[in-house]
Amino acid sequence: MTIQAHGGQLINLIDENFDLSHITKEIELDDFALSDLELIANGAFSPLTGFMNQADYQSVVENMRLADGTVWSIPITLPVTKEKSEQLAVGEQVKLVKDGFVYGVIEVAELYVPNKEVEAENVYRTSDKAHPGVAKLFSRPNVYVAGPITLVKRIERERFKEFYLDPIETRKTFENKGWATVVGFQTRNPVHRAHEYIQKSALEIVDGLFLNPLVGETKSDDIPADVRMESYQVLLKNYYPENRVFLGVFPAAMRYAGPREAVFHALVRKNYGCTHFIVGRDHAGVGDYYGTYDAQLIFQNFESEELGITPLFFEHSFYCKACGNMASTKTCPHGKEDHVILSGTKVREMLSNGQTPPPEFSRKEVVEVLIRGMSKVHA
Ligand code: ADX
Repeated sequence: MTIQAHGGQLINLIDENFDLSHITKEIELDDFALSDLELIANGAFSPLTGFMNQADYQSVVENMRLADGTVWSIPITLPVTKEKSEQLAVGEQVKLVKDGFVYGVIEVAELYVPNKEVEAENVYRTSDKAHPGVAKLFSRPNVYVAGPITLVKRIERERFKEFYLDPIETRKTFENKGWATVVGFQTRNPVHRAHEYIQKSALEIVDGLFLNPLVGETKSDDIPADVRMESYQVLLKNYYPENRVFLGVFPAAMRYAGPREAVFHALVRKNYGCTHFIVGRDHAGVGDYYGTYDAQLIFQNFESEELGITPLFFEHSFYCKACGNMASTKTCPHGKEDHVILSGTKVREMLSNGQTPPPEFSRKEVVEVLIRGMSKVHA
C-alpha cells in the first residue's frame, strides 16, 4: 500500500481525446503556467483540480491552507493581462496554448485581481524585487483566471524522457521495488558531498531514496537541468546502490520561497509516493532572505497527520578534515578551519572558469560532468 495522496485522492485530469472543436478562445501560457498545468493534471499537486479561485488563493496566502483547511503553502494561479481577462466570461471553456500547441482547457470559474504586495510579503517574506520569486510574481500579468483544468496534450521532452514520471508511475515503481518507506530529495543543484551525506543518512532509516531534482524554470545563474541530469547519473552509477535509489525529475518551476516552498515540496513528494522528505539548510532559499533553518521551523505550524509526510531535518553539513568524514555541527567538535564549505556562487564561479572544486566538496566524476557541461553553456 502506497501512502495516500494529499487530500486523500490522487488527481488525474489528463484526457488526450478531449473534444476541442467547440472552443474558440485561448490563453497563451508561459513556461511557468504550463508546468503548473501539467502538475495539476498528473496529480503532483493533488488535491488541486485547477488554478486557484480567490477563496483558496487568499486562504493559502494568509493561512497556508486551502479554503477547506487542507494544508497548502504556495498559490497556484494563472495570470492573464487585463485586456485578455476582459475577453473571457465565467462559465466558458478556454484553450491553454503554448507555441502553437493546445495543452489544456480551463473552465473559467472566476477572474480576480490579486494583491501582489500581500502575496509577496506572505509567501516570500519580502516584496524586494531583487528576490527572483518576487521578480517573477510581479513580471507576470495582473488578473488571475481560476477554474478546473484538463490536460489534453502531454509536453514533449527532447532529452531525459525516461526520467519524467507521473506520480501514478513513481508510486507503482516504489511498490514494485518493495519500498514501504521512501525519502524524497528536492534539489535545484548538482548533488555535492553534503547532499549525498544527508541523503545517505536518511537512507539508513528508510527503504529507498527518490532523487527528485527540480528541472522546471530556474533563475538564469542556476546550473542548467540538462547538465545536472548527467551529473546525477554519473554520481548514482559510482556511489549509490542501484536497488536503493530511484531518479525521476520534478518538472516544476522554482519559486525560491524558502520555508513555504519546503512545505509545498514535501506535500508534492507525498503525492509522488514518498513517506519522508529531506529538509536541510536553507531549503529553497536564495540570497539572505531566510534564516538557515526557517524552512524547518515552518513545519511546526502543522500537525503531522495534516502533512501526512514526515519531514527529516538536517543540519548544515560539510566535510571535516579533522574528522576525516562528512559531518555537521551536531556530530563534529572541530572548528571552521577544518571544515570544507563553499558557497553555491563560489562553486559555479569555479566551474565556469574550469577550476575543480575539491574532492571533499564534490565527487570527481560529478565535477568532470559539470565542467564539461558548463563550458558548453558558456561557449
Ligand atoms: S533547493 O533550493 O533545491 O532546496 P539545494 O539544491 O541547494 O536547494 O538543496 C537541496 C536540499 O539539500 C535542501 O533540502 C537543502 O536544505 C539541503 N542542503 C543543501 N546543502 C546543504 C548542506 N550543506 N547541509 C545540509 N543540507 C543542505
